[in-house]
Amino acid sequence: MSLSMAVPYTFSLNNINDLPTFWVSALSVLLIPAALLFCLQALSNEPAIKGVSGPLIGRFLFGLDTKLGFLSGRSAYKFQSLHHNYGNMVRFAPGQLSTNTIKSLRNIYGAGLGKSNTFLKTNFYRGISRRNLFTATDPYYHATVRKLFSPSLSPGCMAAHEGVIKGCISRFHDLIKLRMQSKKALTLNDLYYSLSVDMVSEVLLGKSLGCIERGRPFFWTEQLPRIFYWATIRDQFQGSGVPTLIKWMLRQILRKGIRQRSEEARMQLIREQLKATHTRQDIMVEVMERAESSKLPEDEIAENFSAIMLAGFHTTSHAICATIWLVLSHPHVHANLTEELRTAFTTTDDISLEVLAKLPWMNSVITEALRIYPPVPLGGPRTSPGAYVDGIYVPAGMEICTSLYALHHNSEYFNEPSQFRPERWINPASTDKKEAVQPFLIGSRSCIAKYFAQQMLLLSLASFFVEFDGNYVGRVKDWTRDSRCYAFWELPDLKVALRERTALA
Ligand code: HEM
Repeated sequence: MSLSMAVPYTFSLNNINDLPTFWVSALSVLLIPAALLFCLQALSNEPAIKGVSGPLIGRFLFGLDTKLGFLSGRSAYKFQSLHHNYGNMVRFAPGQLSTNTIKSLRNIYGAGLGKSNTFLKTNFYRGISRRNLFTATDPYYHATVRKLFSPSLSPGCMAAHEGVIKGCISRFHDLIKLRMQSKKALTLNDLYYSLSVDMVSEVLLGKSLGCIERGRPFFWTEQLPRIFYWATIRDQFQGSGVPTLIKWMLRQILRKGIRQRSEEARMQLIREQLKATHTRQDIMVEVMERAESSKLPEDEIAENFSAIMLAGFHTTSHAICATIWLVLSHPHVHANLTEELRTAFTTTDDISLEVLAKLPWMNSVITEALRIYPPVPLGGPRTSPGAYVDGIYVPAGMEICTSLYALHHNSEYFNEPSQFRPERWINPASTDKKEAVQPFLIGSRSCIAKYFAQQMLLLSLASFFVEFDGNYVGRVKDWTRDSRCYAFWELPDLKVALRERTALA
């Protein structure tokens, strides 16, 4: 068979009569997709927003590039680069906006509950689990639950739990020392996760789950990142038919009923604790005393305990691990911090929150670590009621968020924003803006357990640096560039060659 027979049509300049056919074919290749995109765009009833730009691919191809960012674990970096290229408010997909300024953060999250300019949580949260404090979009249900729990998580009440947290840390250090006898370098991620689970459950429910003694967490404590990941993916593809496909895939891929089994395990633990005799005034005791005057049924209270508990495990352990990595990879910070801590405390038994609150390096290291590597890096999505955000009118129904990672790396607020420099919080001449660091968010939907989390971070990190010296020997050299981020970070291995504190020897 000759080549001319194999190829149905080939254009040749010799055959000038075929020119119109060529141009029609060539133009149709370009024009048909362009016309299709134009129609899709015209069909979209998204209102125009003056002064807000974004990538064309985002506007005309359903934010395909950010969706790929979510899928590939580069979403935090993606949002930062979008802001770098397109400004403080970016339209990254039809109907979706991201911001990175203090003013926008205040406008979106700071508006008082029940006011006409309240930005409510989007349907993304419904995809996470049943209705509870974290997922509720109804402001009145949310306010009822928040009122029930928040007094017990206030700074004044949290002080009563210092001893319990210290007890967990002490058992945890015993485990580390035991492991150090047989291994040169330890990977600390799972160990710190176990510590976080036990600290949270002890304070919240009055019962340790025994993860420290076990040396690893239970499967049912670990589901949150997976749930968030799929909720994020579903949310990104909402309205395209893809969520249905994802649901189907989930049923095929995930081990049968793993989500249901973990929910049952959590709820069983909570129901048992609701009936158990408590030996101390833990948060469950306080909440149940208050619950008598609340209209919430016991099952709803149990569901909320489960949600609050889950929200605390990964966030806390990620913050601890990232801070240890940051300190160990910045020798001058490590030297200053250990000197400060070891001057203040001879052993871990001496450590107290009262003294810790006055230590500049310890507090600056934590603030700077939460700035550089916020445990919740992406913004919580909210629906605009039709209101001004940082001087720009955002029509009702648009989805908007402040990307915490992009806010914390905004060069309008920080000199050398990608550098870990705790000094910026100590040096009185620093012009950096502390109010731009909001890892717990602000307003009525900010982290209910901010003070609890800060206590756990202060006590765990101070104890670590008082008792141990170490070198990071993990594979990933720079966590701030090479971590994957889905809804949470997927932390690299925190592998550390540990030694007990040399000064004690
Ligand atoms: C370093 C540690 C932590 C960080 C950085 C952090 C950060 C956050 C952020 C940014 C939010 C808002 C999320 C959104 O709107 O989508 C949030 C909400 C929440 N956090 Fe935390 N969190 C931490 C620790 C904890 C702990 C220890 C607990 C519980 C024991 C907890 C319980 C919650 C709950 C229940 C909410 C929902 C509050 C509401 O909607 O009213 N968090 N947290």
